[in-house]
Amino acid sequence: MSLTPIGEPRRKITVATLLEKKLHHEPITCLTAYDYASARLVDDAAIDVILVGDSLAMTMLGYENTLSVTVDEMLHHTRAVRRGVKHAFLIADMPYGSYHVGVHEAVRNAARFMKEGGSEAVKMEGGEKRADLIRRVIDAEIPVAGHIGLTPQSVNVMGGYKVQGKSLSDVEQLMRDATALDRAGVACIYLEGIPREVAAMITEEVHTPTIGIGAGPDCDGQVLVFHDILNLTFAHPAKFVRRYGDAAATITEAVQAFRADVMSHQYPSDSESYHLPKETQAALETVLERKRAMRK
Ligand code: KIV
Repeated sequence: MSLTPIGEPRRKITVATLLEKKLHHEPITCLTAYDYASARLVDDAAIDVILVGDSLAMTMLGYENTLSVTVDEMLHHTRAVRRGVKHAFLIADMPYGSYHVGVHEAVRNAARFMKEGGSEAVKMEGGEKRADLIRRVIDAEIPVAGHIGLTPQSVNVMGGYKVQGKSLSDVEQLMRDATALDRAGVACIYLEGIPREVAAMITEEVHTPTIGIGAGPDCDGQVLVFHDILNLTFAHPAKFVRRYGDAAATITEAVQAFRADVMSHQYPSDSESYHLPKETQAALETVLERKRAMRK
């Protein structure tokens, strides 16, 4: 196992690196990022894959679900993230509607994420039924990340955000989905909201690296949403979310302290202010003195 400690020189993560990691049983790390600052922090922390997830619809834009976010909104965030990423493999989510109408539109939109957004792959939700389309996008030299299980863009079909793959027939469908994506040649497969036993079977079965979220510890890698690990979602966390920090508390404390300092005239202090150069100050005093003398 060759874990690269933070601060060591790092090599660029590519599709080949992800495959190598699977072969060497080295965990793949992935986090979402939606803007320049978060992308820089995540990339500097040596995370392998950065996903500009369509979860930004909720975390950044305040929409109720992922369905309303547009290609242009996703591109705006992808470009910002691109500017902050040096080493991580950058994947952009294709939003709902951008690859559902036809192959041409799917390829055209995917190409926009590569050309205009600077992403290195695009992610599309759906398994067996999406495999032919995904093959066509890959044929256009665009690496694709698959996403099966609890696919948030299907929220209305699923009737809510429910763990998938609980019955035998559902498990069999998930296996077919994973195999279809594997055969289509995807770069990785995101497994969301499925029993750990099913995720383990899929991970064992496919050549493609799997990245889990709410899919247990046996996937080749793990992804979490940046805002979830930092308590920035204003919502009750899902069972699989582990909070690694409390940015909401840190930000609230800082904002309240700023307000209190302004209200009590403690901000800004003299040392936080700009001053006139000594000569200008002296000249100004002479002018003011003359004016005062003329008024007498
Ligand atoms: O949009 C997103 O953040 C995602 C991950 C949770 C896999 O799709």
